Amino acid sequence: MIFITGDIHGEYDIHKFSAKCFQMQKQLTRSDYMIICGDFGLLWNGSKSERWWLQWLEKKPWTTLFIDGNHENFDMLESCPLTEWNGIQVHQITEHIFHLCRGSIFELEGRRFFAFGGAESHDKVFRKKGISIWEQEMPSYEEMKQGRKALESIGWKTDIVITHSLPQHLQMELFGWECYNRNELTDYFDEIDAKLDFKFWFSGHYHMSAPCDEKHFLVYNDILQLTKNGFDCVYSPIS
Ligand SMILES: [Fe+2]
Repeated sequence: MIFITGDIHGEYDIHKFSAKCFQMQKQLTRSDYMIICGDFGLLWNGSKSERWWLQWLEKKPWTTLFIDGNHENFDMLESCPLTEWNGIQVHQITEHIFHLCRGSIFELEGRRFFAFGGAESHDKVFRKKGISIWEQEMPSYEEMKQGRKALESIGWKTDIVITHSLPQHLQMELFGWECYNRNELTDYFDEIDAKLDFKFWFSGHYHMSAPCDEKHFLVYNDILQLTKNGFDCVYSPIS
């Protein structure tokens, strides 16, 4: 089974994975996957509490995959060993927690995924470089070029897209100019959105679970399970 959820921000929004909230976990194994759409945040300052929560997550019965959001300590993330998982290079965080690098393409249960993390922080003025914000939150020109190349290799066709921020036209439509800036990444996602043949696109970042249209979905504390033709919400904090 494959599940998709939004930001966990370290220990702050991790409680959706508790047995009380996500009750299906009893039947899951390491061959089931939880994909987090960025702002993982459990590699932040290496504190005792952070290490405890990382182990708590590691002990969950599934395998965790995440893309980076903007609230990550990229120096810590990049210092994790690169390993091969499912035919692609990932950062290995613990035995069963992996970071999906930008531009990753992989298959799970017969579905193809394209994952591309990163986003621009909208609260930069309150953050300190190297302490609470890292310039790697935005992708480099090279990473975006590699992303295009990867999509070219699969003929611009996938099933699922996993990102932290949205394409610009949707971000603008939903939020206007409030809070979220237009930038090279949202423009890049506009370009991909126009060219890519895909079924569903999931984004974190905006701290709400809601459909944008019939193909793009924001996800935060809901947990979605992919089904044969779509997905079901298997946990929602408001239900
Ligand atoms: Fe977030």
